[in-house]
Parts: sequence; C-alpha cells; structure tokens
Amino acid sequence: MTAQSSNQNFRLENLFNVKGKVALITGGGSGIGLMATQALAVNGAKVYITGRTGSKLDRVVELYGRDIPGQIIPITADITDKQAVDQLVQEISQREEYLSILINNAGISSQTQTTEHEDADKLRQSLFEETTDVAEWDRVFRTNVTQLFLTTTAFLPLLQKGSEQERGWSSTVVNISSISGIVKVSQHHFAYNASKAAAIHLTKMLAHEVQSSKLRIRVNNIAPGVFPSEMTAGESDEAQKNVIPKERYEQKVPAARPGKEEDMASTVLFTTTNQYLNGQTVVVDGGYVLAAGSV
Ligand SMILES: NC(=O)c1ccc[n+]([C@@H]2O[C@H](COP(=O)([O-])OP(=O)(O)OC[C@H]3O[C@@H](n4cnc5c(N)ncnc54)[C@H](OP(=O)(O)O)[C@@H]3O)[C@@H](O)[C@H]2O)c1
Repeated sequence: MTAQSSNQNFRLENLFNVKGKVALITGGGSGIGLMATQALAVNGAKVYITGRTGSKLDRVVELYGRDIPGQIIPITADITDKQAVDQLVQEISQREEYLSILINNAGISSQTQTTEHEDADKLRQSLFEETTDVAEWDRVFRTNVTQLFLTTTAFLPLLQKGSEQERGWSSTVVNISSISGIVKVSQHHFAYNASKAAAIHLTKMLAHEVQSSKLRIRVNNIAPGVFPSEMTAGESDEAQKNVIPKERYEQKVPAARPGKEEDMASTVLFTTTNQYLNGQTVVVDGGYVLAAGSV
C-alpha cells in the first residue's frame, strides 16, 4: 500500500461511510431516534423509521427527508407486539434485499417515586403503596427490554444478508440503552433504570450468541445521558424537536449542559461504522456517570 492510499483510508468519508446502507430505526419520529435518522440519512443511507404515531413519522419525512443524499421512509408499527415485528420484517423484505443497520431506539419512561424518606413506613408508603403499579413495570420492560430481543432476533436473516453485500462491512444492531442502567441512583424511577440495565446485559448476551453462531452481525448499545426529546422535554415543537434549558443541567452534568444532537449524531456514526466494535456500551453523557457513580 502506498502512503497516499494509506492516507485515503483516514478520510472521514471512508471512516464513517453509511452511503447506500439500509437502516431501520424504531422510534425514529422524535428525540434521539430522529437524531440518529438524520445522522444516517443526511450521509446517504436509506432509513426506515417506525413508531406508533404515523403523523410524527410523516412530519419527519416532510421536514428532514428532502434534498438529502439518503432517504427517510415511514412505517407505522408497535414494536412491542411480536406479530407487528414480524409484519415489519415482511414489509422491509418486500422492499429490500438486506438490512445494514438496526437501531432499537423506541423506549418509554416510568413514573417518578419519592425515595428521600428516612423512615421505613414512609418509604414503604411512597414506593409500595402510592406508586408501584405492576402493570407499569410490565409495560416498561416490554417496551425497553422485550422489544430489543424481538426486533433483533426477527431481523437476523436480513442483517446477515447485509453483511454479505459488501466486503469489510458487518451489519450492526445498536440498542439505545441509557446511563440510567449504569448509575447506582434510582433517579426516582426504578422500573426505567432496571429496564435499561437489562437492555445493556441483553446487548451483551445477544452479541455473544450471535458471534457464537458465526453470524457477521455486531451488537452494541449506546447509553446516552440527558438529551432533549419527548421523554425528557414534553411534546415536540413544529420542527419535531425539543429543548431542555441548559441551566437545568448546569450543576448535574460535568459538561454543564444537556447533550446536543451533534453529540448523538457522531456517536451513532461511530457505533454503526466501526467494524471492530462488538458487544460494547458506548456512554455519551457529558460525564454524568462520573458524577453520579456507577453500580
Ligand atoms: N432523551 C434522553 O435523555 C435519553 C437518555 C437515555 C436514554 N434514552 C433512550 O432513548 C430512546 C429514545 O427516547 P427519547 O428520549 O428520544 O424519547 P422520545 O422522543 O419519546 O422517543 C421515543 C420514541 O419511541 C417511540 N415508541 C415508544 N413506544 C413505541 C412502541 N411500542 N412502538 C414503536 N415506537 C414506540 C415513540 O413514538 P410513538 O409514541 O409515536 O410510538 C417515540 O418516537 C429511549 O429508549 C430512551 O429510553 C433517552
């Protein structure tokens, strides 16, 4: 290899190339899913986005799908339903021969609980009697954990075909977990944090089993800190975006601000394209875990 062709390998468009890749992003209609959608589509990927609300997806296509090198294509689906996931696989199989990137991003939060009581009866009252709803734990785990398993396993054949398309490319699953699955504090929502810890462990098990089966599919997870989204900032504005005032996190995060969409976009491009990354948790949190302490 000449020095010149070696240098060529280091160009950004070679290191982070997603041109022509076919991607599916669950929950791509808002927040972090939309950031991931734009990161891939603006750089030339064909990105299918799903969610339960068709109007959100259509709005994303209308606003962000024009005059870009890639494409954004909406498919309405509830990914907590096994049949709906199977249907999604069929819909994408009818249109595409393969899938290169699957980002399991859809997720929900759980209600908050007061943990500050220094009295057993009061703590019981707050955690057991007032706020713990078993049905909610089920819903949160079904959305944040079970669906990662359903979607990843359902798409294995299409993902494997994606790896066979191009020498040097292994298809990739990226689960969006959270620093909430790493920190020792409950952040006042036990169900959500427990579900995100499960998502991180599930990522590792899936990565291990997939490589044990000799499939060329990488499985990683991104654990974000605080980013603006419908989950963290309420309804989206007319640009289908959200804002968190910087001051709210000045004291809580060493970076003294919430995450920006560029912070998430570069993490998504790194995680999807780096061919040597497998079974890992990529934490992008402005130092939140450093400050809060991990388990
Ligand atoms: N924002 C943060 O600070 C932060 C930090 C760490 C981790 N995360 C994680 O990042 C992921 C994205 O969340 P976000 O913060 O960007 O919140 P968001 O704006 O509420 O996005 C979640 C998306 O998931 C979709 N969704 C929820 N349930 C679904 C289902 N059953 N089937 C299909 N789609 C579904 C929602 O659309 P519909 O309601 O229309 O279905 C929504 O577009 C989540 O897994 C979350 O836990 C977020």
